[in-house]
Amino acid sequence: MTRLVELEATGPRTLDPSDIDDEKGDVAVCQCGLSDTFPFCDGSHRRTEDEEDGETYVYEDGERAVVDRVVTERKAEDEDEDENENENEDENENEDESGGERED
Ligand code: FES
Repeated sequence: MTRLVELEATGPRTLDPSDIDDEKGDVAVCQCGLSDTFPFCDGSHRRTEDEEDGETYVYEDGERAVVDRVVTERKAEDEDEDENENENEDENENEDESGGERED
C-alpha cells in the first residue's frame, strides 16, 4: 500500500517538552500523513488498516480513493540524465590521472 499525501510545510518542526502527551507520557509522530494534528499522530492511521498491497490511495474530504501510480515526465528526464552520468563515469574510469586513456 502507498498513500499520496499533500503537505504544505517547507521546514522542520522542532519538538519540545510541551509536545509530550500528558496522559501517555510520550510523543507520537504521524507517519501515515493523515493526521489532522500533523506532525503528531491523532489516530487517523486506523483508516489505513485495510489498505491493500500494490494499491495507491488518496484521502480527500474524508473519502478514500484508489488511484493509478503517478509517473511524472521528470522521472523520464532523470533516467536520461542518469544514463548520461553513467556514460561520463565510464569515460572517466578509462582515463588515467594525466587525462589520457588508460591501458588495461
Ligand atoms: S500515524 Fe498518522 S495519524 Fe497516526
